[in-house]
Amino acid sequence: MNRLELSLRPFKLEDNIFVKSLLKSYEVMKFALVNRVLTDEEAETFIKDHFISKPDTYGLKVLCLQEELIGFAGLLRCRYLGSDDLELGFIIDSKHQGKGYAAEIGKILICQALSDRNRVLALVHPDNTNCRKVLSEKLKMTKDQEIITPDRGARQVYIYALK
Ligand SMILES: CC(C)(COP(=O)(O)OP(=O)(O)OC[C@H]1O[C@@H](n2cnc3c(N)ncnc32)[C@H](O)[C@@H]1OP(=O)(O)O)[C@@H](O)C(=O)NCCC(=O)NCCS
Repeated sequence: MNRLELSLRPFKLEDNIFVKSLLKSYEVMKFALVNRVLTDEEAETFIKDHFISKPDTYGLKVLCLQEELIGFAGLLRCRYLGSDDLELGFIIDSKHQGKGYAAEIGKILICQALSDRNRVLALVHPDNTNCRKVLSEKLKMTKDQEIITPDRGARQVYIYALK
């Protein structure tokens, strides 16, 4: 699949309302980040930390279908397995789920990560069957281990590694 209309672009201040609406949606957030909707304060901090003050070339971008905002995704630095890794993440608005967009953007992010590292991680809530399906079947990532993270609770770690 190659949909030319799907793209990641840097956050603009006017995207704030849309990103906040995702962070405040139970349907979207039940298995993402801290497994619940964020408070107003948490949402503002999240947006500031991940979209506004970007420490390096990695980070989150907004996901657009042509001009329409449909989610956000990106690569985040992490140390969940004890070394300096990149973690792939995506959050798609409910009305745009089930259309293959996460896999499409995930492939691009995996390629980007592997141009700099020899592996990329994804962390998924054990009950998030939709996301597990994307990671294992569509992105061909391998389930590695289950960990308890200090910030997000139980997560299955999936890895795509260069051979
Ligand atoms: C999990 C998520 C990223 C998957 O993205 P997506 O673009 O919807 O993924 P897909 O379209 O490939 O769907 C994956 C599977 O989920 C299921 N699914 C997704 N949406 C569905 C819907 N509306 N109805 C029924 N099944 C659905 C299907 O089994 C689908 O597999 P199929 O395409 O073989 O039928 C997305 O649903 C999402 O953002 N969820 C909320 C946030 C989240 O959990 N993020 C991931 C954190 S690790």
